Amino acid sequence: MHLVLKKEDLNKRRTFGIISHPDAGKTTLTEKLLLFGGAIQTAGAVKSNKITKTATSDFMEIEKQRGISVATSVMGFEYKNYKVNILDTPGHKDFAEDTYRTLTAVDSVILVIDCVKGVEEQTRKLMEVCRMRNTPVIVFINKMDREGLDPYDLLDEIEKKLSIHTCPLTWPIGIGNTFQGVYNLFEKQLELFSPNKTKISEDIYEIKDLSDPELDKRIGQDAAAKLRDDASLIEGVYEGFQEELYLDGYLAPVFFGSAVNNFGIRELLDTFVRIAPSPLPRHTDTREILPDEKDFSGFIFKIHANLDPNHRDRIAFCRIVSGKFERNKFYYNTRLEKKLRFSSPASFMANEKNIVEEAFPGDVIGLYDTGSFKIGDTLTEGEQMTFKGIPRFSPEIFKELINKDPFKAKQLEKGIRQLTDEGVAQLFTQPTGNVRIIGTVGELQFEVIQFRLLQEYGASCSFYPMNYIKACWFSCSDKQVIAKFIATKNRHITYDKDERPVFMADSEWNLRMTKEAFPEIEFHYTSE
Ligand code: G4P
Repeated sequence: MHLVLKKEDLNKRRTFGIISHPDAGKTTLTEKLLLFGGAIQTAGAVKSNKITKTATSDFMEIEKQRGISVATSVMGFEYKNYKVNILDTPGHKDFAEDTYRTLTAVDSVILVIDCVKGVEEQTRKLMEVCRMRNTPVIVFINKMDREGLDPYDLLDEIEKKLSIHTCPLTWPIGIGNTFQGVYNLFEKQLELFSPNKTKISEDIYEIKDLSDPELDKRIGQDAAAKLRDDASLIEGVYEGFQEELYLDGYLAPVFFGSAVNNFGIRELLDTFVRIAPSPLPRHTDTREILPDEKDFSGFIFKIHANLDPNHRDRIAFCRIVSGKFERNKFYYNTRLEKKLRFSSPASFMANEKNIVEEAFPGDVIGLYDTGSFKIGDTLTEGEQMTFKGIPRFSPEIFKELINKDPFKAKQLEKGIRQLTDEGVAQLFTQPTGNVRIIGTVGELQFEVIQFRLLQEYGASCSFYPMNYIKACWFSCSDKQVIAKFIATKNRHITYDKDERPVFMADSEWNLRMTKEAFPEIEFHYTSE
């Protein structure tokens, strides 16, 4: 039995997330990657992963679906000797801070963009989180079988809206009805498209030199002439692919394809396993932890509570950073300063959940928990440290919490503390008048809170909408400036759960004006 993962095995692990706006094709792409990896045999197996778009938000129905989606929170498969872990980033009705936090547990992302719609809102928000950590990004432009935007305009939009440089590795020939396939600029191959939802296209021709008349024969003279023009333009306009720039999160290689038609997936996956980073080192408050260290360490980035009263269990998702995790061994929770043992840690393989005996850096395991974990908790073999980089993100919807039953004030207090520890929402307190504000990223969380407070704590509450749009943590080296700021903006200051002051902005304009009035102060959209 080996103690730690050998270096070459560690180098063959890839942990990533797929990010996109709803409907761009994330589920379809996930499924195709699993098919390629042999983890599932038929299309349709991952559909349960997605919360369907119910017209009204029937929260219990969503919860039922969410229950299924726990099993697909992490999907592992093997491809060409690589161990690949896909972390699901919920994006429909269940879009929440969890989605942001999952991005703190990945080493890279694949960004899916619908060529008809271009860059959309949720993509922009998720990419902001990736930009904060310089997460390497590969772009997949999907649905090329539909009449979409011009590829140059798409790349331009990605660069402008997502502040990342792009570098096409394939280039489309036509689009929608005229889509014939792509030219792989890197491999110098022509890959011809034929719509097929069940088979992988193998129509590939080596065309080393674009002046080869074979090209005209395959795609027609007009398309060939256009491709030759495009290729020389691309060379002049875009940076050549450089792996270091990709790993620094500065340059995103781009692929064009059609997920539902299995087109462009193989190139994407082959390139992904080749260039995407293996498990990365992580910072703690004391030192940097390398994945090949002997001792186990990991952090909790997500807690899933089962809302079914018959199964009141919680699963804490732990990303392993270093060493080897073993079942039934005692590990140290550095916040609680307490040793804990896990008898049935779960791993996730496509749509199966299994008990694991051991797990390694880059893996995500589910730990059954009765309520002791908090988001951001660190587990070690005894070393006292806390992983950094698992912040709280600014909510976007804010409501005042109203206690409807004065006799249950204590229960409400306890419930709201625990739910916010789990990361369901954030709590801010306004010192004047003792107003308590709940902040979330998705509307659904309010229903979850109301339901759980009643079911689990017997407390009933309602919410009163507030017109804030962002909560900003702030910092300045001059304590006097901070004191003056808090005094002046008194009405807009609340305190988070750790008693840190937070500025509540009620409009973009208000935020801009405040920044201008206090140029020495730095405003942050995350708690770290
Ligand atoms: P999401 O997880 O990002 O929300 O997107 P999802 O994969 O569910 O895809 C959204 C819709 O787009 C689905 O259609 C899917 O079939 C379709 N789609 C995905 N890739 C392509 C593509 O390359 N070309 C075209 N034309 N469509 C694509 P749906 O009608 O919502 O669902 P379904 O009934 O097809 O399952």
